[in-house]
Amino acid sequence: MKLLIAYASTEGQTRKIARFVADRLVDAGHSVELLPVSAAQDIDPAHFDRVILAASVHVGHYQSEMSEFAATQARALLARPVLFLSVSLAAAGHDAEDWRALDGIVKDFADATGWQPGQVAQVAGAYKPSEYDIFRRFVMRRIVAAKDPDADLDVDHEYTDWDALGALVDEWTSKAA
Ligand SMILES: Cc1cc2nc3c(=O)[nH]c(=O)nc-3n(C[C@H](O)[C@H](O)[C@H](O)COP(=O)(O)O)c2cc1C
Repeated sequence: MKLLIAYASTEGQTRKIARFVADRLVDAGHSVELLPVSAAQDIDPAHFDRVILAASVHVGHYQSEMSEFAATQARALLARPVLFLSVSLAAAGHDAEDWRALDGIVKDFADATGWQPGQVAQVAGAYKPSEYDIFRRFVMRRIVAAKDPDADLDVDHEYTDWDALGALVDEWTSKAA
């Protein structure tokens, strides 16, 4: 199968997730084109059997370049199986209100772009104080302290469950189109 994986990543975790998924698909014998969505604006999804898009949540929104891509390519995306990986810290927890908010973020994205992802997977991201500026560090310390009281707030922490992500991708690719 020929797959396109396009991602938007602000601090790097979604890029790492996209790379992990690409490596797994290549190992399974698929042909994969992996690129940042900002470099995919000229790519026609119609040249691929399936597409995986990945973006991360920052203050309740995905990166604008992912919205632009989805809006421009809505018709081609709707015509083939697409898995949308929504990366956030809310997905690391079990707070019902947080999960409702994640559903709302996907809905706002679908309303704004005219593209409703066929399958959405909520994927836990990372807390990376080593890469934040002062503003981000302040915001994120408060969020992580509330969600994960045992976390050392000075140390980077990856919440992504790689085994679960791999299993999800395997299941999605083995499903009939
Ligand atoms: C400034 C900032 C705002 C964020 N806002 C949210 C948010 O509203 N909801 C959430 O669940 N996670 C939020 N996060 C967590 C990110 O989604 C998480 O760190 C993710 O791994 C970032 O992915 P990236 O490294 O690919 O950019 C925020 C992170 C930062 C730095």
